[in-house]
Amino acid sequence: MKKINPKNLFSKEILNFSVKTKNGVLRYINFDNAATTPAFFDVEKQVAQYMISYGSVHRGSGEKSKISTDLYEATRDVIKKFVNAEKDSYVIFSQNTTGAVNACAYFFSFLKGKVAVSEIEHSSSYLPWIKEEGGKKIGSKQIKFSDLEKINEKIQFYGNKQIIVYKTDKNLHFDLKNIEKILRQNKIKVFVLTASSNVNGYCPDIKKIGQIVHKYGAYFFVDACQYLQHHKIDMKKMNIDFLVASGHKFYAPHGGGFLIAPKKFCDKFLPYQIGGGNLPYITKSGYFLRYENQLAHDPGTPNAVGCVAMAKAIEVLQDIGIKKIENYEKEIANKIYQGLLKNKRIKIYVDSKNLNTVIPFNIIGLDADFVADKLNDDFGIGVRAGNFCVYQFIRKIMNIKDEKEIIESVKNGNKDKIPSLLRVSVGLCNTKKDADRFLYAINKIIQIYGQKIQ
Ligand SMILES: Cc1ncc(COP(=O)(O)O)c(C=O)c1O
Repeated sequence: MKKINPKNLFSKEILNFSVKTKNGVLRYINFDNAATTPAFFDVEKQVAQYMISYGSVHRGSGEKSKISTDLYEATRDVIKKFVNAEKDSYVIFSQNTTGAVNACAYFFSFLKGKVAVSEIEHSSSYLPWIKEEGGKKIGSKQIKFSDLEKINEKIQFYGNKQIIVYKTDKNLHFDLKNIEKILRQNKIKVFVLTASSNVNGYCPDIKKIGQIVHKYGAYFFVDACQYLQHHKIDMKKMNIDFLVASGHKFYAPHGGGFLIAPKKFCDKFLPYQIGGGNLPYITKSGYFLRYENQLAHDPGTPNAVGCVAMAKAIEVLQDIGIKKIENYEKEIANKIYQGLLKNKRIKIYVDSKNLNTVIPFNIIGLDADFVADKLNDDFGIGVRAGNFCVYQFIRKIMNIKDEKEIIESVKNGNKDKIPSLLRVSVGLCNTKKDADRFLYAINKIIQIYGQKIQ
């Protein structure tokens, strides 16, 4: 593919989707790609085509069943090649990144040692570790229904004790010496890190951190769901043992996600979920025999449509070339960044050196949710306002020390006090013209609604 042009990647219907706004009917601009991405046209076509031959996976001898099983299984190899995973690693399908992390946290909870989780983790790669670790720590005694509330609190308490949250330094980066110290001083079984922050796009040095993690005998778990659609992931080169991602973030909606994990590791565990299709035989006395392959971790009828979509989206990303994608998106992000910089009423929470595809910012004196609503209602532009499920990091970058008032108001059903930022996130559906329209809208909002701000 030559020059990137969204018109070659998405359907006319997606690109021309229009919304009624206060300024008339406008073409909708999606600047919320970090939350989810529209489907590539080729993905839509492939899924529609597959519907004709859709059949059961791993069950049945009919032609449709064979086609479906082959397509489903082939997706594992497509994913493995895309991220250069070890040949014999497993691709375990999940609904999304959240599901994949939960499965992995379940496995690790059986093992001795602590879990190191970074302060920039999304709650999806933070809370599953607390829940599984805490659950294991309190043991498996059965209890009365009325005691459940107490137990739930205990799970969180002990879970938090099993987790070490490692922090960023004053530049909001990870200090490798600090990481090494944590690994030296604690028995860490798994070291968890996101490859790209969904708040400010910060990409830690995965390769170097992986080296350190391995030096201390821990496994390295990487959440790549904000990374692999923008930058090259190479599990072998980057020293990654476990990798998770979601199809809907790389232009393949339809509910697919995955965990890549070492075969030798997974073969030792009972599956996270069990039922039909992931075991070969159940004996008279109710014991089940197991597979020593990926099927063991593939319970129930799988989401073949999601897998077909992911495989096609990866093919498209590879056809375009990740380097080209990086450059294309960088230009748009940079245009937005430079435009925002010009307005003194805007506070940006990322510096130009670390600029990636997501830009967190606020308009001083205007509520983030209010601005996001105005962008949508008046200008037909979708962004996100909120804390992006990364509470610790948001508190840090917004310098919020005291959370008593926040907790109190949330308990009283009021979420207004929760710290909130605006986030514009760029993807392949965007153009520099979109950036211009966005900057125009932001400046207009400041002009109209920000008059009282000094
Ligand atoms: C860094 C990161 N990890 C995990 C998730 C959770 O992904 P999903 O909702 O697909 O499970 C997100 C979603 O925004 C994310 O940004």
